[in-house]
Amino acid sequence: MFFNRAYHQSIAVLRQFASPYPRISAFPRPLTSVLGSSFRRTMASAMAKRLEGKTIVITGASSGIGRSTAREFARTAPKDLKLIVTARRIDALEELAKEIKEEVGEGVKTLPVKLDVSNPEEVKNFVPSLPAEFQDIDILVNNAGLVKGVAQAPNIDPEDINIMFATNVTGLINLTQAVLPIFKKRSDGGRGDIINIGSIAGREPYPGGSIYCSTKAAVKSFTEALRKELISTRIRVIEIDPGQVETEFSIVRFYGDKSKANAVYANCEPLTPDDIAEVIVFAAGRRENVVIADTLIFPSHQASPGHLYKKPQ
Ligand SMILES: NC(=O)c1ccc[n+]([C@@H]2O[C@H](COP(=O)([O-])OP(=O)(O)OC[C@H]3O[C@@H](n4cnc5c(N)ncnc54)[C@H](OP(=O)(O)O)[C@@H]3O)[C@@H](O)[C@H]2O)c1
Repeated sequence: MFFNRAYHQSIAVLRQFASPYPRISAFPRPLTSVLGSSFRRTMASAMAKRLEGKTIVITGASSGIGRSTAREFARTAPKDLKLIVTARRIDALEELAKEIKEEVGEGVKTLPVKLDVSNPEEVKNFVPSLPAEFQDIDILVNNAGLVKGVAQAPNIDPEDINIMFATNVTGLINLTQAVLPIFKKRSDGGRGDIINIGSIAGREPYPGGSIYCSTKAAVKSFTEALRKELISTRIRVIEIDPGQVETEFSIVRFYGDKSKANAVYANCEPLTPDDIAEVIVFAAGRRENVVIADTLIFPSHQASPGHLYKKPQ
C-alpha cells in the first residue's frame, strides 16, 4: 500500500539522523520500536477514518484502473463505505461487487450501475435514478476513457474521433456537472472530491495519438479551470496522470487485436492498474485541507510517451 511505502521512506530518512551508538543517539530506543507498528497503524487508520462513511462513484470500473480503484477503496476503508461502480459492461461490475464482498465483507456496499458516459441522457438520469441511500455522493472518480486506433490525419475515422471526445471529454464534463450540485449543497460553499484521470498524453502529444492526446489535454484544461472556479469551497479537484499501464487500454486501441496490444508491453515492465489505484485512494484519503492537485506516474523505464526503454532481446 502507498502509505506503507511512505512509512518505510520516513524510516529511511529518519535513520540517516540516528546514530549507530546508543548512548549518543538522538533516539534513546531503537527507532523502529519508537515509530514502528503503532506509527504504521496510525497512518492506516487515519486514512481509513477519513474515508469511512463516504459514497464514491467510479466510472469505467469494469476493468483496469477503475476496477482496481474500487477494490483499493474497499480494502482501505472496509468498515463503512458505499461504492457505486459504473461502466457499460454490467456483468463485469456485478462480478466486481461479488469479489469485493468476498474480500472485505458487509462493511462495503457496492452498487453496480450500467452507465455509458458518452450518452448525455444516461448521465442526466444517473443521479436521480440512484437508490436514496447512494445519492449523497462524496467522491467522483472520472476514470472511464479510451483510445481508438493509431491513425494520423487526414486518415482518422470520424467515428473514432467522436467516440473519444464523447467519452473522455463530454462524458467526464457531463458527469461532473451531474454530481457537483450535491457537493455544492454542503457547508463552506461545498465539499467533495472530483478525481479526473488524465494521462501523460495530455501533457506531451505524440504522432498517432492526436485525438486521444487532445481529449486528455481537454481534461487537464477543464480540471484546472474547475479548481479555480471552486476556489471558495472545500471541493477538491484532483488530476491523476498515468504513464504506461497494462490494462485493456491497448486491446481497445487495436480494436481487439491482442497480439498488437501485447507488443506494446513486450520487453518492459509497465505499471499495473493497482499502482494507479493506490495513488487515487491516497489522494482521496488526505486531510481535507490537502489537495493532491496534479500527479504524473511513470514506470521506471518511461520518461515520456516516446521515451520507453525496452530491454534488448
Ligand atoms: N492504460 C494506460 O496506459 C493509461 C495511461 C494513461 C491514462 N489512462 C486512462 O485511464 C483510464 C482507464 O483506462 P484503463 O487503462 O483502465 O483502460 P481499460 O482497462 O480499457 O478500462 C477502461 C474503462 O472505461 C470504461 N469505458 C469505456 N468507454 C465507456 C463509456 N462510453 N461509458 C462508460 N464506461 C466506459 C470501460 O468499461 P466498459 O467497456 O464496460 O464500458 C472500462 O471499464 C482512461 O481514462 C484512460 O484514458 C490509461
